[in-house]
Amino acid sequence: MLSYIISGGNKLSGRIKASGSKNAALPIIASCILNPEPVTLYNIPDIEDTKITLEILKILGCKITRNSDKIIICSKDMLKTAIPKDLMHKLRSTVVLAGAIIGRFKKATFSYPGGCNIGARPIDLHLDSFKKLGITIDEKDEYIHCKCKEIVGKRIKLKFPSVGATENIILASVYAKGATHITGAAKEPEIKDLAKCLNSMGAKIYGAGTSEITIFGVKKLHSTSYKIMSDRIETGTLLCAVACTGGTVTVENADAQNLLTVLYSLKEMGCKISINRDKIKLKAPEKLNPVSVETQPYPGFPTDMQPIIGAILTKAKGKSIVTENIFENRFKYSEELVRMGAKIKQKDKTLEIIGVDKMHGEIVMSKDLRGGAALVIAGLMSEGKTTVENIEYILRGYENLDEKLRMLGANIKKEKVV
Ligand code: EPZ
Repeated sequence: MLSYIISGGNKLSGRIKASGSKNAALPIIASCILNPEPVTLYNIPDIEDTKITLEILKILGCKITRNSDKIIICSKDMLKTAIPKDLMHKLRSTVVLAGAIIGRFKKATFSYPGGCNIGARPIDLHLDSFKKLGITIDEKDEYIHCKCKEIVGKRIKLKFPSVGATENIILASVYAKGATHITGAAKEPEIKDLAKCLNSMGAKIYGAGTSEITIFGVKKLHSTSYKIMSDRIETGTLLCAVACTGGTVTVENADAQNLLTVLYSLKEMGCKISINRDKIKLKAPEKLNPVSVETQPYPGFPTDMQPIIGAILTKAKGKSIVTENIFENRFKYSEELVRMGAKIKQKDKTLEIIGVDKMHGEIVMSKDLRGGAALVIAGLMSEGKTTVENIEYILRGYENLDEKLRMLGANIKKEKVV
């Protein structure tokens, strides 16, 4: 098991580059299954989730070459259409591979995805959408078998703006007969990035980033080179790490447009924020103001930033309220913060956080990706030594997090704990 060992209390300051977006990389890597021509991708983060997704593509028969700053994926010789169960369970986003496999091969076999334990995370919206596209679905021995003669474009109304379901409908519809129109689509920037990448291959997708998306089926796709967007959640995490330790940071390779609600909350907390093209500068106050934050689908406050904001509010100057509307089990990190001296009460979907003067280091356990990052941030702002265990969760979604925090002046190191 791997742990981070943190000695808290340092002010974090300096300049740091955000990596490519995990949540754009995963569906964009999946989209290469649709294209038998080589696709060159830039800015793909070197994290566990992208490694597992690339591993699955290799097992399915895709040729993957990775050198310094790019990955070339060629799925010309891909023959297999069944995703190995053990790899499916390693991460939830593998479910969008299904849409791409069905889109190209008109059949796919996969199992229920795994992923962080932040909620039930059903895939009913994905499967209902596949059925609307004319795909038959049989469930047998824990496997889901999908097949169809052809995919016929349809109007699909999503009852919830599911990111993954929106991505899966787009991927399954690229080669459809006619056009597919999604009403109630998710508007996350990662969906816009997926559509931009697919359109650079010759797909015809309009309206991505809004709740109304139309995909006109095409006959073929061609080779492309594409640089994916930067990671807005990593950017927010790095800004919060500085906001709670009283320093000044410039995050480069960032896109403030995708993070406005988080920047607004940081401003409300007393941070000075300035934006200049792909740079976001933050100057932290001595002590943060308390705020109320409520997660919503994009462009609302992102659920992935909820644990990280919860952590930095533990030492704010009063009572803050954090409400989680997207996932039903995304407060597990708060028990660990209480062990570090935080004053937090959970009432249903809401945390009430009373700011304290001091937090103290403890041995704490990551229970999911963003909750783990929240514990790292709490260690940075606590007195003494904090050991964050089970950081394998964190390594799934953050590229070189400890290295980046050290570059900003944090006293943090990674250790193997037997
Ligand atoms: C994506 O997950 C992200 N993951 C998540 O980031 C992010 O938190 C989430 O979108 C919301 O923004 C990737 O992009 C790889 P959803 P996804 O489908 O697609 C319910 C991180 O930390 N739902 O929008 O799984 C679901 O249970 C991860 O980087 C159904 O009920 O999210 C949840 O309550 C965590 N039925 C809500 O919708 C379905 O068929 C949002 O899920 C699908 C979803």
